[in-house]
Amino acid sequence: MADEHGATVNADVRRRDLPDPARDLLSRVTLIIASNRGPVEFHREPDGSFSTRRGTGGVVTAISAVSRFTDAIWVAAAMTDGDRLRAELAAERGEAVIEPDNADFRVRFVVSDPEDYDRYYNHISNPLLWFLQHYLWDTPRQPDIDHITWDAWNNGYVTVNRQFAEEILAVADSSAQPPIVMLQDYHLYLVPGYLREARPDLILQHFVHIPWPDPDYWRLLPVEFRRAICHSMLANDIVGFQTPRHARSFVYTCEATLDDVDIDYRRREIRYRGHTTYVRSYPISIDVDAVRRVAASEDALRHEEHIKTFLNEHTILRVDRAEPSKNIVRGFQAYDRFLELHPEFLGRVNFLAFLVPSRLEVAEYVDYLDDINTIVGRINTKYANVAERDGVAWEPVRLFIGDDYPRALAAMKYYDVLLVNAIFDGMNLVAKEGALLNRRNGVLILSEGAGAYQQLSEHALSVSPADVESTAHAIYQALTMPPEQRAYHAQALRRLVIEQDILAWIYSQLEDLAATVGGSLVRE
Ligand code: G6P
Repeated sequence: MADEHGATVNADVRRRDLPDPARDLLSRVTLIIASNRGPVEFHREPDGSFSTRRGTGGVVTAISAVSRFTDAIWVAAAMTDGDRLRAELAAERGEAVIEPDNADFRVRFVVSDPEDYDRYYNHISNPLLWFLQHYLWDTPRQPDIDHITWDAWNNGYVTVNRQFAEEILAVADSSAQPPIVMLQDYHLYLVPGYLREARPDLILQHFVHIPWPDPDYWRLLPVEFRRAICHSMLANDIVGFQTPRHARSFVYTCEATLDDVDIDYRRREIRYRGHTTYVRSYPISIDVDAVRRVAASEDALRHEEHIKTFLNEHTILRVDRAEPSKNIVRGFQAYDRFLELHPEFLGRVNFLAFLVPSRLEVAEYVDYLDDINTIVGRINTKYANVAERDGVAWEPVRLFIGDDYPRALAAMKYYDVLLVNAIFDGMNLVAKEGALLNRRNGVLILSEGAGAYQQLSEHALSVSPADVESTAHAIYQALTMPPEQRAYHAQALRRLVIEQDILAWIYSQLEDLAATVGGSLVRE
């Protein structure tokens, strides 16, 4: 198969693994994926050439698994100077899409004015929508929706969403096969509305990777924002969420926000202005083979040797972006409390925290990183002279700051306890990566607010995220759990993750899309 963009497509072999309806669908359509962050970023080298680096983060990793089955085109924001320059070059050469070396996708960049982009990304997407959707506001004080927020909405979020729609339409219009557009996440809520207006025939699916809060909480946003979001999201044929709970909240939010919606709760359908949207949940997961491959890489093995020097009789681990929703500070408070309650563990337990600094353009993230450093300093000082380990002062917490995925995976092999106490989280893939890789029958402490809770809670110790006291008790319970019980739960978790990996996530979405294209989606 070759298409109008001149790509040689050799996807037939890969497609063989797919369920029939999905395979048939992919042979008849062009898949267009759109997300803020793309699969590659470009960097200009001193000799004028471009080098590429894989886009970071869970969304890119998850969607990249689609490339096993089809040669999709990915529309993404130009986020680096290199991306912008490469996009300019493509425009000069009349290239409809860029074909990066060593990448699985053809790419088309959305190039925005840097100030518009800043308003869209650093004012509305993160923090406004992100904080809202993770219930992170300290509501008596925040948010203040002032003229700056309104300006960021009108001249940032709206503008960049329109540009995304234009680029997607350009790809769709030049596609020989009928296009299916798979939109990702909260950056692009207004895109489906613009697309539907221009091309009523398009099949549109939007997956929201983060939680969807209750309608009452959405009322913190101006009604104009809420209406625009719900109106646009109902231009999709399918809207997908991580859990049925988030899907239900979406339905209720549309009901509370728009006058003319007609909802069939049993079929999870919303009819709005003559169009039907199916609301579904697809729990995202990890690419088991890919994660295992990275964990077995030379890089990871090298880190493993180093990490082993930080292990203690008991090792607690957390791996997170340094992000307020991850509840890192309360995790350390709980650890401190556990040490107070159980001094018999002093000197015998280490807490290793691998944290990736994130979104440092947003003040709340910088402050949060400071809070983390402060509490870690306080705990390490408090216990500095109480115990020794191998002749040196015991350091109860060890922070590893930086973005090093192989290193984080290497550490996951060795925990006795994995602490995932996020306040709210769309899914939390660390819980799944840990369950897959751990070799010590480690215990998972899992927040009720993580999407992963729905799938994994039976084999984890549950914590309510604000409950520091119970989290301290959970740490104790985990560290004193009988070995056979640890083994039973660890094996069950591993099985669950292997059975429901990223392919299950992709298959179920493609099957539902196939059913939509085929007429109606009645699969329950
Ligand atoms: C996390 C969330 C994703 C989101 C991404 C954006 O990974 O789980 O839902 O799309 O952050 O991160 P970025 O660094 O691209 O702003």
